[in-house]
Amino acid sequence: MRRDSFGSRFGALVAMAGSAVGLGNLWRFPYLVGENGGAAFIIIYILLSFLICLPIFISEFVIGRRSQKNAFAAFRDLSGGSAWRFVGLFTVIVPLIVLSYYSVIGGWSVEYLFKSLSFSFTENASQGAFHTMFSDFVSSTWAPLAGHTLFLLATAMIVIVGIKDGIEKFSKVMMPMLFFMVIAIAIYALTLPGAKAGVDYLFNPDFSKITGKACATALGQAFFSLSLGFGTIMTYASYVNKKENILTQSTATAVSDLMFALIAGVAIMPAVFAFGLNPQSGPGLVFETLPFVFGQMPAGGLIAIIFFVALLVAALTSSISMMEVAVAYLVEEKKFSRLWACITLFAGCWIVGALCSLSFGPLSHIKIDGGSIFDFFDNLSSNILMTLGSLLTVLFVGWKLKKTDIYDEFTNGGTLPLNVRIFGVLWVLIRYVAPVAIIFIFVYGLI
Ligand code: PFF
Repeated sequence: MRRDSFGSRFGALVAMAGSAVGLGNLWRFPYLVGENGGAAFIIIYILLSFLICLPIFISEFVIGRRSQKNAFAAFRDLSGGSAWRFVGLFTVIVPLIVLSYYSVIGGWSVEYLFKSLSFSFTENASQGAFHTMFSDFVSSTWAPLAGHTLFLLATAMIVIVGIKDGIEKFSKVMMPMLFFMVIAIAIYALTLPGAKAGVDYLFNPDFSKITGKACATALGQAFFSLSLGFGTIMTYASYVNKKENILTQSTATAVSDLMFALIAGVAIMPAVFAFGLNPQSGPGLVFETLPFVFGQMPAGGLIAIIFFVALLVAALTSSISMMEVAVAYLVEEKKFSRLWACITLFAGCWIVGALCSLSFGPLSHIKIDGGSIFDFFDNLSSNILMTLGSLLTVLFVGWKLKKTDIYDEFTNGGTLPLNVRIFGVLWVLIRYVAPVAIIFIFVYGLI
């Protein structure tokens, strides 16, 4: 049977950008910037994104497109069947863990979209009321579970349809829409009186804030945001035409991801400052602080709807990429039909996600390593498994694969002059700089 693939360059690009741009940009990046000192954090983030993460992104792209297979088979076949195939299996399993808890936050976006559609934020309630609204909601049993179920169902339904007709079509329509929605909110936020303090916070660096911990957080966030270390980019790359340019596609994805994160910052921070609120309000920034802000601003009801539609769309274009990694594996290696693969994964992720969701309420007494079940999965995957996955991926490309094969894949057989010219630098970044930096920052972040 012929393997499905992306139908066009634009389609492949928006699908990859869709995977990268997600809750990481709209929900996580702004609050991490808030907590880690604003502009200084953004500067480290940009440096790490291009010096370390882009080479890893390219490494994943090379593995996927060279093999034209699912992530497990890519590692197995390119390494000649050695123990590296276990790394392949690792990159298939980790996205499922992330998908399980990602879907819980996706479910919160569904609920908040419903709330915004019934104009629940425009009743001029106090900030405390929004805190209570959020904590009552997440600690309840059924409403978050319903959101989680709807979100995961929507993810599975898009993935069932396939690459070209499902993932690509959805991303082609949704990504441009997402872009315009986020830009519109950012422009609006900049017109609010008092917005300047928020812009200053985002763009005036205070270098005393650059600590080892901030670097480790920035690196972890850059991995998360670019969907690295998970087999996602590898799997999408396996559906990309051999004629495409890996350098331009990878750079375009990294740049769009960064732009989205910065625009999200500009959409959120000025509004937070304009109403004299605290930018460091952690994960609640989007679900507590923003609804209050929407309630205060003129036309806030409409802006809230646009914002939560954007959040949901961004989350969905990412969650479909996580599910596709394991679907490709089950279909190609275990001979599942696409439908059965999606049903099986839906069931597995639903159960793990349900435990994460309930860990905010009925199961909050269960502690793993001092935190809730949700915290455990989030920390484990975004701080440890993802770093490990990225490290193993660069080591695989830099030290196991043949340099001539990587050159051949990256330069399309020596036919792309710019790629030929920068290959030497890229090779040093992949073989030496990225692994050393990852280990250094990881260990430094722990102490
Ligand atoms: N990059 C996504 C975001 O920023 O929300 C998250 C993500 C997608 C992580 C896909 C991992 C992944 F495989």
